Amino acid sequence: MKTSRRDFLKKSLATSLFLATEHIGPEQAFAHKQTAQSIEKGVGYTTINSINDNKVEIYSQDITRTIKLFLIADTHLWMSDSREDPYRQYSARMAKAYNKTKHFQTLASTNPKEQFEKTLEKVKESRPDGLFLLGDIFSYPSEAAIEWAKTQLDQTGINYYYISGNHDWHYEGLPNSEIELRAEWTHKRLLPLYRGQNPLIYDVDISGLHIVMLDNSTYEILPEQLEFFRKILRKNKPTLLMSHCPFYAPGFPVSYGCGHPEWNAASDKIYKIERRQQWPVEGHKPETYAFWNEVANGCQKHHLLATFSGHVHRQTTSIVNKWTQFTIKPNYSGAYLEITLKPF
Ligand SMILES: [Fe+2]
Repeated sequence: MKTSRRDFLKKSLATSLFLATEHIGPEQAFAHKQTAQSIEKGVGYTTINSINDNKVEIYSQDITRTIKLFLIADTHLWMSDSREDPYRQYSARMAKAYNKTKHFQTLASTNPKEQFEKTLEKVKESRPDGLFLLGDIFSYPSEAAIEWAKTQLDQTGINYYYISGNHDWHYEGLPNSEIELRAEWTHKRLLPLYRGQNPLIYDVDISGLHIVMLDNSTYEILPEQLEFFRKILRKNKPTLLMSHCPFYAPGFPVSYGCGHPEWNAASDKIYKIERRQQWPVEGHKPETYAFWNEVANGCQKHHLLATFSGHVHRQTTSIVNKWTQFTIKPNYSGAYLEITLKPF
């Protein structure tokens, strides 16, 4: 009789969990056996996440077909023409920031524009169900770079989904709050990249898989973003959350800023360098902590499969209960992540 991939996976899991009981006591053995039986019976939501270099595989219930996603973050593009003249005093530092980079695998010298073009060639070869751009694609809201990148993205023929990072909308040294500046420069420059979606938060439905694209580039969550995410989670459909900033996980520094208990004025060491508003003395607003709670418990209570972010410019994985968070390497070094979701 032919064994399906699904049956093989279930049997392998049950066998490996059962074999592990040889080295543990009878009570634990019983618990492990129960776990294996639970997987076989499909009690609750069962999700398996694995990462192999820059490929992630997710097996889960309610995924009805193989879905391929392509992720990038932190390309840090910028280009300049005469339209930039009034803003040079606000873009000068970031225009010097990432002009010479090293390839993440070969360590050969390269640059953000070259790696963005090469990445899109890979996207065209891979033909994913969607390309997801998780912020800091630009080092500042450079009109020339945004126009160029949009043309390149449109030419792939692949559906793409963009969300902003903390640099995409930030001209350093302009007055006003972070929330006001994000709104102003998103609407003046970045809006065409959203292709009609709400820049603060939106949901992409690919064959029943919900991918929530969240703008947490000020490190804070707005009440309407919290309400939107809660509604999606309570559908109890397979869901991924993607944002620029990662969410706090114990053991990670304050750069995992969204929901970090030490995110406040005292821990903000670079606001003068970035010429922006200092983080507030009192730390996060209640909505941000409430959102963090939804994320941290979303894989247990609901059908959140995993979360993905950029911002920290490195690949990390953290697991808190059943919540798995992946951060990805910067695309200015050529890095990208391919996610394949398969039925379980
Ligand atoms: Fe970045």
